[in-house]
Parts: sequence; C-alpha cells; structure tokens
Amino acid sequence: MENGRAQFSTKLGVVAVTVGSAVGLGNIWRFPFEAGIHGGGAFLLLNLFFVFVIGVPVICAEFIIGRHTGSNVRTAFRKVAPGKAWGVVGFIGLLASILIISFYSVVAGWTMEYIYQSFTGFSGVHSVEGLHDRFDAFAASNWRPAMWTVLFLLCNYVILVRGVEKGIEKMSNILMPLLFLILIIFAVHSLTLPAASEGLEFLFNPDFSKITPRVVLGAMGQAFFSLSLGLGCLITYSSYFTRKTGLMKTAFLTAGLDTLVAVLAGVIIFPAVFSFGQEPAAGPKLVFEVLPSVFANLPGSMFWSAAFFVLLFLASLTSTISMSEIQIAYFMEERNMRRSGATNLSVLIAMVLGVGCALSFGCLGNLKIGGMTLFNLFDYVSSNILLPVGGFLLSLFVGWSLKRSIIVKELLNGSDSRWQRRLVGGIVFCLRFIAPVCILAVFVYGLL
Ligand code: PFF
Repeated sequence: MENGRAQFSTKLGVVAVTVGSAVGLGNIWRFPFEAGIHGGGAFLLLNLFFVFVIGVPVICAEFIIGRHTGSNVRTAFRKVAPGKAWGVVGFIGLLASILIISFYSVVAGWTMEYIYQSFTGFSGVHSVEGLHDRFDAFAASNWRPAMWTVLFLLCNYVILVRGVEKGIEKMSNILMPLLFLILIIFAVHSLTLPAASEGLEFLFNPDFSKITPRVVLGAMGQAFFSLSLGLGCLITYSSYFTRKTGLMKTAFLTAGLDTLVAVLAGVIIFPAVFSFGQEPAAGPKLVFEVLPSVFANLPGSMFWSAAFFVLLFLASLTSTISMSEIQIAYFMEERNMRRSGATNLSVLIAMVLGVGCALSFGCLGNLKIGGMTLFNLFDYVSSNILLPVGGFLLSLFVGWSLKRSIIVKELLNGSDSRWQRRLVGGIVFCLRFIAPVCILAVFVYGLL
C-alpha cells in the first residue's frame, strides 16, 4: 500500500489483471460475431489497424493519467486538469461502464447456462439445428437468462467486496494462462475440420469490397471494446500500478495478447462455421450455437465443453470486475461511500439494467429504440460511440494539454535508452494527430 491505496503486488499481477480486463467475451464472443457480420478478413485487418495505431497510444494515455494521479477517473481529471471541461471523460466512462456491464452480464449468464448444459450433455442434442433451437428456446424463456444474469452479477459482487489485491490479482494470475492453453487446443482441433481452409480464408483473406462505413465503425468499436479502452478502466487499473511497471511494455503486451486471443477465437469458430454449414453472420448467438457442435466431435466432449465455458465465465468475471471497479472507485473517492456501499450500488444498477437486456431476447424483444433492442442499443452506443469519443478526448488531452514532462516521466520510467525516447515521440505523435484524426474521420465517414 502507498498513500493508503491498494496496489498490485507483482509484475505478473500487473500484466495479468490488465490482460484479464481486456480478454473476455469481447474476444471470444464479440470478435467472431462482429467479424462474421462484417465480412471476416476485411474486418480483421481494419481491427488490427485500430488496435495498434489508435489502441496502443490511447492505452498509454490512460496509463499515464492513472499512474500519475493514482485516482479514479473523475478525480484523476480533477487533478490533472483542475477546473477544466476534460472531466467529462470521467462521466462518459461511467456511463459506458454502466451500459457495457449490463449487456455483458447477460452473455456471461449464457456461459453459466452452457456450463450447466455441458454437464447434462446438452440433453443429447448435437446437431446444428438442434442447438440452434435450443438456444432460441432458452433465450425466449425469459426467466432463465434473467436468473443467470443476476447470478453472474452476484459472483461479481462477492469478488468486488473483497477488494482489489486479494480478489482480482490472484484470479487473473491463474486464469489467463489456462485460458490461452485451452484456446490453443481448440484452435488446433478446428484446423482438422473438413472446411478448415474455407474458414481460414474467410478470416484472413480480406475482401475489400466488403468495407462500408458500418464495417469501419464496427472495427474501431471492437478495438476499443476489446482493449477496455476509452472509458477510464485502464486509468482506474493503472492507478494501482507501482512505479516499477513499464507502461509502454504493458500497453504493447496487452494489445498483443488481447488480439492473439481474438484471432485464436476466430480460428476456432470459422472453420467450424463452414464445416457445419452455418451462417457466419448469425450475430450474438454465433459462438453459442457453433461451439457445442465443435465439442461434440471431441473425445470427452463433456469435459472440454465444461472446461471451456467455465474459463469463459471466469474471463468474463475479470472483465466485469474491472468495469465495476471504475464505478466503485468513483463512488468511494468522489462520493465518500464505503467500499461495501459503493459495491452494492454498482451491482444493483447492473442488475436492473442487465435483466432488461436479458429480456430483449424474449418478452422485451419488441421494445426497440432506433430500431435496436435494449441489448443491441447498449452495445452499439457504448462500443461504437461512447468509447471512441472517450478515446478521442483522451488522446487530445494527453497529446495537447498534459505537460510533456509528465508524459516522458511516466512512459520512460527513468530509462534513457534512445529507442524508448523515440517510441515516446511516436506515441505522442499518434495521440496528437493520428488517433484524433482517424476517430473523427470514421465518424464523418459513418455519416456520409
Ligand atoms: N475488454 C473486455 C472484453 O473484451 O471482454 C470488455 C470490457 C472490459 C470493456 C472492461 C470495457 C471495460 F471497461
């Protein structure tokens, strides 16, 4: 502890919690279904561009603010830009975290249902059509998805009340390596499926004619969502970093590992989609309909299926915890609430909105705002609008308004290596020009 605030205790812990926040449903559930809707290879290529050209510099921007101030999003801006309007980034972040955690918990709830189904062997249903109908019946049952959403949020609650070091760090240290391992096993298996080459072609061979404003916006939104970027999550987490943490190294490692997991998920899903004659553009249900048929083909299918959904459930937990932590740190430090009260409030809001999102696949399916169900609306507004706007403001703030000496001190960490100095120069250049111009251009392109 320093200044009475918790800190992550080991080097591995720092990377594991940050990657733990980034890696989750965004990589394994959202990336394949978004890539499936938006044309595969072209989407992946655009996504890679946004991750490394905008994502890494904006991660650094959040890290600089977080570690320099050691505070939650709102207080952080009060410290670095007192009396200025930049604090609006904190509010955008709070709103985005509330929206994301609400629909995210629904999908995390689906993973719990699938853990249960794995143990009951999907009641012997393994055909693609059968699994399809099963998912639809489950989603339309209303009470079941709502119940799992609430249960998932209760699990979240139990970890959150125990605090940062004990809960989050320990879990991430074990979980992340295990998740990589199981993904690699499944990816190798998917490569042996009959239409593996078609699946890989879909994912890796870009068809540029598929690029539309919606695809570009989607690829940018996916980069922000998947990196937990633009809403102050990484400001909050880096406020727990010690002075020893190398910020640039952690930023590159987070972006690299996160992207690797998304690509692995694609390598698992698309060969299966084509081998089992499914539609890549099936939307949010894609992974839940395709994966059980993959497992059914493996020896010991029940074990693999259960192991996978348990890991996915845990990976979702490390992500929702980081979202709740944004709100809890804010309630505690800005509203003087105790950790327990702040946690209660954050989880309660998520439960109310989360149940609304869960029901959008059933009885609230006809409640549409701007043509979207509550679930889709929350996802669209947060990923494609709030996070990029947050990233835009963050890059402008750090690029143009924050003292250069703070940036250099935080990023260099006392090193005087020449290439590291050059890298800092490159990151500042991206924050000043490339990131804001690209984000603005994507929005303008979207309006055309
Ligand atoms: N990055 C997480 C994922 O890919 O599943 C989702 C996420 C976590 C978004 C934390 C935002 C956040 F603050």
